[in-house]
Amino acid sequence: MWAVVLETFGPPDVLKLREVPDPVPGPGQALIDVAVVNVTFVETQVRAGAAPNPALAPTLPAILGNGVGGEVIAVGDGVDQALIGTRVISTTGGTGGYAERAVVNATDLLEVPEGLGLQEATALLADGRTAIWLTQLAEPQAGEWVLIEAAAGGVGSLLTQLVRARGARPIAAVGGERKRRLVTQWGVEDSVDYTTADWTDQVRAIIGGRGVDLVFDGVGGAIGQAAFGLVREGGRFAPYGMASGAMTTLDEEEIQRRGLTIVGPSARPSPEELRQAARTALQEAAAGRLRPVIGQTFPLRAAAEAHAAIEARATVGKTLLIP
Ligand SMILES: NC(=O)c1ccc[n+]([C@@H]2O[C@H](COP(=O)([O-])OP(=O)(O)OC[C@H]3O[C@@H](n4cnc5c(N)ncnc54)[C@H](OP(=O)(O)O)[C@@H]3O)[C@@H](O)[C@H]2O)c1
Repeated sequence: MWAVVLETFGPPDVLKLREVPDPVPGPGQALIDVAVVNVTFVETQVRAGAAPNPALAPTLPAILGNGVGGEVIAVGDGVDQALIGTRVISTTGGTGGYAERAVVNATDLLEVPEGLGLQEATALLADGRTAIWLTQLAEPQAGEWVLIEAAAGGVGSLLTQLVRARGARPIAAVGGERKRRLVTQWGVEDSVDYTTADWTDQVRAIIGGRGVDLVFDGVGGAIGQAAFGLVREGGRFAPYGMASGAMTTLDEEEIQRRGLTIVGPSARPSPEELRQAARTALQEAAAGRLRPVIGQTFPLRAAAEAHAAIEARATVGKTLLIP
C-alpha cells in the first residue's frame, strides 16, 4: 500500500510517499480501508521534532496520523466478524493513519451514525471529542462572555458552536480579516483580529469594559497571555493547546489574587471518557446540532502541502487527507 512516511524530523517536505507492506490485524485488532485521514495541528509539531509532549514523538521511521475513517475490511482473532463492512472512524493509537490501510484496536472503532458523511465524522474524531470534553469541563453558562482563540480553526470552530448552543456569547478571536469575515458568515456576532495591536481593547469594548467570563486558550504564547489578562475576577481560563509554540504562563499568585479557576490541565480524561465525547460529537452532528467545518482536503500524497498550509496559518476548520 501507499503511505506517507516520516524518516527524519524536519520541515513539511520530510513527509515522503512510500510503498510499504500492508498492515495485518492481530488479535483484538481491525483493518480499515482508509477513505479519510484526520490531520491534527500537533502532528505538524511532531513532524518538526517539536512535540509539546516527548511521549508523542514516534520512533522513526514512522507513519504519522492518529485518526482515520473508512470501512472495516478484516479483523483479527477475537474480534466480531460482523464488523467487516461497517463504516467507522477510529484513533490509530498514535501512528499509522497517513496510509491507504490502517490497523486499529477493535475497541477504538466508532460506527458512523446513519445520515453523517464519513468526511464529517472523521473531521470530528479529534476536534469533536476535544471540544465536547472542554465544554463539559468549563461549562459555559447562558449569558456568559466566552473568548475563543483560533476560532476559525478545527477545535475553535466547534467550541464556538457549543458555546452558542448553551446560550453563552462567544467572542471569536482569530488571526486576520479573512478569518474574521468567515466566522461572521458562520453566524458569530462578535469577533476580533488578534494580529491588530489593540485587540484586547476591542474585546473589552464589546462587553462594555468588563472582563470575559471564560477563555478557551488553544494558542498560548503572547496571545494566550493577553487573553489571560482579559478574564474577569473570579472567571475561568481553559488552556488546551500551544499553536504558537508555547503554553500560556500561569502565575499561581496572580490566579489566587484574581480568584481565577484554571480549567483542564490537571483533568486527565480516561480513554472511555474520550470515546464517549467523540460519540457525543457524532450524535450531535448527525442530529444537525453541530457542524464540522471541513476547510480543506488534500490527496494523501500531498500531506507535506497540508502540513505547510497548517503551519502557515492558511487553513480554516479541519484539514483532511484523502488516500
Ligand atoms: N485537535 C485536537 O483534538 C486537540 C486536542 C488537544 C489540544 N489541541 C491543541 O489545540 C490547538 C488548536 O488545535 P487545532 O487542531 O484546532 O488547530 P487549528 O486551530 O485548526 O490550527 C491552529 C491555529 O492556531 C492559530 N495560531 C496562532 N498562532 C499560531 C502560530 N504561531 N502558528 C500556527 N498557528 C497559529 C492559527 O489560527 P489564527 O490564524 O486564527 O491565529 C491556526 O490556524 C493546538 O495547539 C493543538 O495542539 C488540539
